[in-house]
Amino acid sequence: MKFEKIFQNNEQWIAEKLKVDPEYFKKLAQGQSPEFLYIGCSDSRVTAEDLMGANPGEVFIHRNIANMVISIDLNMMSVLNYAVRHLKVKHIIVCGHYECGGVKAAMTPADMGILNPWLRNIRDVYRLHQEELDSISDSSKKYNRLIELNVQEQCVNLIKTAAVQEAYKERGLTVQGWVFDIHSGKIIDLKIDFPKILQGIMKIYDLHY
Ligand code: CO
Repeated sequence: MKFEKIFQNNEQWIAEKLKVDPEYFKKLAQGQSPEFLYIGCSDSRVTAEDLMGANPGEVFIHRNIANMVISIDLNMMSVLNYAVRHLKVKHIIVCGHYECGGVKAAMTPADMGILNPWLRNIRDVYRLHQEELDSISDSSKKYNRLIELNVQEQCVNLIKTAAVQEAYKERGLTVQGWVFDIHSGKIIDLKIDFPKILQGIMKIYDLHY
């Protein structure tokens, strides 16, 4: 895609929006109150709004390599706190995807330089679920399963935060784990049992009295 084409596309997009509603951008500028926080992978094939059919203003979005929720990542934690405590989103979605290059890299024994500490968090997910993963002999099934377990563990990481614990108790915020199946375009709901996970980890991670 050429640069010039992007600006042409933009003009076309503006015209289409104004045709439907001449006040479209005036309304858009007035503020946002999205119901969802979406945490997904930076992968160029997994476009959050597109795959959800969401419009501008509907989803607050954070993307990084392999949709990670790391408690010392100031970027992620700022997005989370802003979304939960100020925008008061109702649902948080962690969306992984099959064929994730970040997860692939974490399964590969290689020095990835500056990426090492980031990928280490995915290697830790492998270690947590080593028994299950090592029992899968088919390498592509193992790869898919690690992608799913990584989503699950990032949901757990969200549940460990004070903002999420507080919003859950006060207004029933939910955490959803999804995998985008890049082969079919389908969103697969991993049906993460939020209350059960919360119960299981609160003895150690409770931050909210
Ligand atoms: Co990815």
